[in-house]
Amino acid sequence: MKRLSIFVSGNGTNLQRIAEYFSDNPTVEIANVVCNNPKAYSIERAKNLGIPMRMITKADFSSEAFTKEMQSLDIDLIVLAGFLWKIPESLIKAFPNRIINIHPALLPKYGGKGFYGEHVHEAVVAAKEPFSGITVHYVNELYDSGEIILQAHVALDKNETPDSLAAKIHKLEQAYFPVAIEQVLSDQ
Ligand code: GAR
Repeated sequence: MKRLSIFVSGNGTNLQRIAEYFSDNPTVEIANVVCNNPKAYSIERAKNLGIPMRMITKADFSSEAFTKEMQSLDIDLIVLAGFLWKIPESLIKAFPNRIINIHPALLPKYGGKGFYGEHVHEAVVAAKEPFSGITVHYVNELYDSGEIILQAHVALDKNETPDSLAAKIHKLEQAYFPVAIEQVLSDQ
């Protein structure tokens, strides 16, 4: 049995998709959802999916106790699915090569502090990039710079807007993120 912990900050469409994708797979279980935002719609989704929720504050998150708690849950893989805080070094050390993130652009472009969600799409459209996409990567001590696991591309139209690009990226995330997770779990 492989146990996932999914970290979220917002809407949770990736959380929903991952949970549904693995729902008929008896070898993968979502042990909990960790959320830093009391207003996140993800909380409602986790409740409806019957997955235990762990709300965190900044102080919790960087504490030794939180790292120990995660270790005690026998987590095989931490999945950042729209989680917007930087991961503390202690957690990265406790879960080496066992934390992955999805980023809504083709890293190394449009990554780093401040590049999240719609800000990424606004920048990509403003720069008139011919392509954008998604990147699934391992998490290290720096934002958006760990080893890349998977990228998928999509072309921008002439009249692309940040909203229309967000919809395209959303489709890529729904199609590829669970598959990338499955691949990482089978390589472990
Ligand atoms: C996703 O598009 C994800 O790629 C992005 O946040 C969104 C979360 O959507 N992540 C980042 O920007 C990380 N830097 P969701 O809450 O509906 O899954």
